[in-house]
Amino acid sequence: MKYGHFDDAAREYVITRPDTPLPWINYLGCEAYFGLISNTAGGYSFYKDARLRRLTRYRYNNAPYDMGGRYIYLRDNSDGKFWSPSWMPVRSALDEYTCRHGMGYTIIWSISNQIEAETRYFVPLGENLEIWELTLTNKRNKTADISAFSAVEFCLWDAWDDSTNFQRNFSTGEMEFVDDVIYHKTEYRERRDHFAYFACSEKLNGFDTQREAFLGAYRGWDSPAVVEAGESSNSAAHGWQPIGSHHVKVQLKAGESKKIIFILGYHENPKDAKFDPPDSQTINKHKVKPIIAKYLQVKNVEAAFVALRDYWTELLGKLQVNTPDEHTNRMVNIWNAYQCMITFNMSRSASYFESGIGRGMGYRDSNQDLLGFVHMIPERARERILDLAATQLINGGAFHQYQSLTKRGNNEVGSGFNDDPAWLVLAVAAYLKETGDWVILDAPVQYENEDGSETPLYEHLQRSLQYTLDRLGPNELPLIGRADWNDCLNLNCFSDTPGQSFQTTTNKDGKVAESVFIAGLFVLAAKEMAEIAGHRQEAGETTKMQQAAAQMEATIWKSGWDGKWFRRAYDDFGHVLGSKENTEGQIFIEPQGICIWAGLGVEDGRAELALDSVAKYLATPHGIVLLQPAFSQYYLHLGEISSYPPGYKENASIFCHTNPWIMIAETKIGRGDQAFDYYTRINPSKREEISELHKCEPYVYPQMIAGKDAPTYGEAKNSWLSGTAAMNFVAITQAILGIQPQYDGLEIKPVIPSGWQGFEVVRHFRNVRYEISVSRKGAGNIVSLVVEGKPVPGTIIPLPTWDVRSLKVTAYIGSE
Ligand code: GLC
Ligand code: GLC
Repeated sequence: MKYGHFDDAAREYVITRPDTPLPWINYLGCEAYFGLISNTAGGYSFYKDARLRRLTRYRYNNAPYDMGGRYIYLRDNSDGKFWSPSWMPVRSALDEYTCRHGMGYTIIWSISNQIEAETRYFVPLGENLEIWELTLTNKRNKTADISAFSAVEFCLWDAWDDSTNFQRNFSTGEMEFVDDVIYHKTEYRERRDHFAYFACSEKLNGFDTQREAFLGAYRGWDSPAVVEAGESSNSAAHGWQPIGSHHVKVQLKAGESKKIIFILGYHENPKDAKFDPPDSQTINKHKVKPIIAKYLQVKNVEAAFVALRDYWTELLGKLQVNTPDEHTNRMVNIWNAYQCMITFNMSRSASYFESGIGRGMGYRDSNQDLLGFVHMIPERARERILDLAATQLINGGAFHQYQSLTKRGNNEVGSGFNDDPAWLVLAVAAYLKETGDWVILDAPVQYENEDGSETPLYEHLQRSLQYTLDRLGPNELPLIGRADWNDCLNLNCFSDTPGQSFQTTTNKDGKVAESVFIAGLFVLAAKEMAEIAGHRQEAGETTKMQQAAAQMEATIWKSGWDGKWFRRAYDDFGHVLGSKENTEGQIFIEPQGICIWAGLGVEDGRAELALDSVAKYLATPHGIVLLQPAFSQYYLHLGEISSYPPGYKENASIFCHTNPWIMIAETKIGRGDQAFDYYTRINPSKREEISELHKCEPYVYPQMIAGKDAPTYGEAKNSWLSGTAAMNFVAITQAILGIQPQYDGLEIKPVIPSGWQGFEVVRHFRNVRYEISVSRKGAGNIVSLVVEGKPVPGTIIPLPTWDVRSLKVTAYIGSE
């Protein structure tokens, strides 16, 4: 069953009923001011950091769910009937409804009581504000007398404190209401130099800033007393819960339309110009007033919206494909790329499943995410790389997380996730291949953000890999530390105390437990490093890295190969995990993916054996599960992985992030049908038709789908913020469609389904527009290239001279 449909031409998903199985959300903002918005106008806004600069409140995990949002109430003043044109929070039936989630905007449209209401929500580029542009149309054949009420509930900035520290917070709230604009200025009197404002384009009939005055005691957002009465109470908040609500009365003739603009924004004043007059406690509004005035005008709103659409056209235009499969086209051209950009902006901080107060920017996560967005925003990717590297520890290790506001490593979580460092090498390699910006390697970068500690970025990469080599265990495999990619495989934790963090509690000295996954990752990264060193003519380093990779491969074959698949790890007792010797956790997906991606077994058939084992033991119609058999109980020596009931999360769910590694591995051994089949199984667009089971948004990847051991097999969770976005993007565009940026040019090396006769791609790469047409001559994956009519040997299109702006390429695949 579906709850809407894709509108690919508009780059929108159109939800056609409000009661989706879960709130189906979208994001507003792409620079500093952000918001989450659901299909019923739920969600919240923040400036840069979802925890520390939260503008509005949202009640996570509440009943009904999705409470708190950007609400508009409409009231028919002739009979007192009121409703929410976004359905929530009043939830009275709407005659018609659609929610169009687009690139950085959401439009909720409905008709009720013969009043059509369309609200377009978005954040203009370059501004720290959001616009709600409401268009009301009277569909009756007589005049309508309508009241519109807006409503937001302000958060007292630190979202964690806001939801816990009531003894203080109920006494700190402060507001101003000046020239019809509502200003939220809690803590502005002391150490904050920022405030929020909420303005409306119309002459107001009234306003409210105290929540209980607006709602009425013991009432909810579904029936505010003020809306019911049709009159604002003009309340001023002093402590308690500050809100913002405007009341606008409109008379609409039959068929008449009217636009009402609301803007909600964030503003910072210079520390020495906070107040006006200077010796008062009143916000200095000189700088913010012109901004407000600008966006209360319809023409400026329209221009800002057009600019936003152009921005996305430009970003998505970097890579557009036309394949025989509509699900592939729509994900690659629109939604998967968009999701990659959202992971760039949010990391794992704010979604329907991430509360915005928990996690900083993950080091591993951010490096991996980069693989999915580097082609769209190379300059910002560069900055991200330098930020990440500057948090690196002097020993090559990494803080597991860092804070987006301060860009500093997070001491509470610390380091010791022994896979973290290697991801930086893969991120930098992806960046170099995309841009050819070799000078980045000479950029001086600090360690732990300490002045004076700078070394060239190149040395950071060397230290990252040395970190692994310095930490080998009894089998010469890398020590796992707190965890590797699988945050829940905690082999040194041994936690028997409820509430202890599995990931940061280590009760073992960590000198025994080893990870085959890190070994595979090391091979992949060391091979990249060898190539990078080669480009810099550092022959010694090249050889060193090649040897280190070869040595690690030998170790994997010696201690990490189980006969039919790669093993997973050795625990603190030196016992193997992910082996036929185990009764549970016999086979894990991660080492199969990463080792084969790194090239292991590709030539000698062992990769094929491992992938056949994946197909046999792990693949399901809903995707590939993480391991089998699932852990049936909690094992002290395995940690969090066994804390989850079978089929969920790391304990044998379809952990979508890992599936593309298998797709990539399948393409390494030339099996395009199998790779694409796996791609399709978890493709959200393809799963749209089972939305009542899948539950999450059909336009973005979830982190997990419940595995075959779970009672809710096939049900997705944790949509949006997951490395799944970047990895699937890489798998489909680079491995299956085979459009791979390389150090020396764009490589075309498709491994597509045997039934595909070809496909087309437009790819912007290093300032050249490549128009690529791939066409099948016969079976197999052999490629012959014709560039501008001339045959070119190999699979890489050599970089053209500087004056060339576009190239036409035909790639023939298969043999006649
Ligand atoms: C989450 C984390 C990611 C980790 C994965 C597996 O998605 O964000 O860093 O690799 O879980 O545990
Ligand atoms: C939990 C989750 C895992 C995630 C980790 C992040 O362990 O199961 O997926 O990576 O938290 O801290």
